[in-house]
Amino acid sequence: MKTKNDKNYPVKEFPLKGLTGISDKTLEMHFKLYEGYVKATNSLTRQIGEFLIDGQVDQEEMPAYSELTRRLGFEYNGMVLHELYFENLSSQESKGPQQGQISLQKAIEDSFGSFDIWRADFSSVGKMRGVGWAVCNINPANGRVSNHWVSLHEFGNVAGFRPLLVMDVWEHAYLMDFKPSERGEYIERFLAHVNWDVFAKRLEGQS
Ligand SMILES: [Fe+2]
Repeated sequence: MKTKNDKNYPVKEFPLKGLTGISDKTLEMHFKLYEGYVKATNSLTRQIGEFLIDGQVDQEEMPAYSELTRRLGFEYNGMVLHELYFENLSSQESKGPQQGQISLQKAIEDSFGSFDIWRADFSSVGKMRGVGWAVCNINPANGRVSNHWVSLHEFGNVAGFRPLLVMDVWEHAYLMDFKPSERGEYIERFLAHVNWDVFAKRLEGQS
């Protein structure tokens, strides 16, 4: 019997290499780690689907079903945040948004006053102690841009907000290239390699 959960998520590929500061060795390890989240998401989705083949979740099935369903949030967000992270990186360096990216600059300035203030906030969110992510979101209801801390993968995501820029600050993202105390230097390297075209497209809802 086919269920709605039969469709697997694919492992995406990202053409990233030769970044300054974030080594190819780190990226290769990180791609493998991401692949693990895709596989776990597919596996959990399939296992949960098997509970539902008879159209119900029996009382004795509930503990296992609950555990798998809770884990799915962690794995699914781990998969999606990594895809957003790799997608918003570029092998090329840049100093910031380009002159033609007016809507991007306007959205940031309307919400923060200036690009530099937004940058200081995003960097500071990324330096917060703990394991997780710095995420710049847009609220589609009013166009306001805001930066958020996400613990692990799933605590701190704002319902309905759309991610514009995602930065991994789990230690595995930089520990082969920087010391644990050098997270700030990793953040500078990340910001130097942001793909601002991707940011602009996400702002417009095109990506
Ligand atoms: Fe990661």
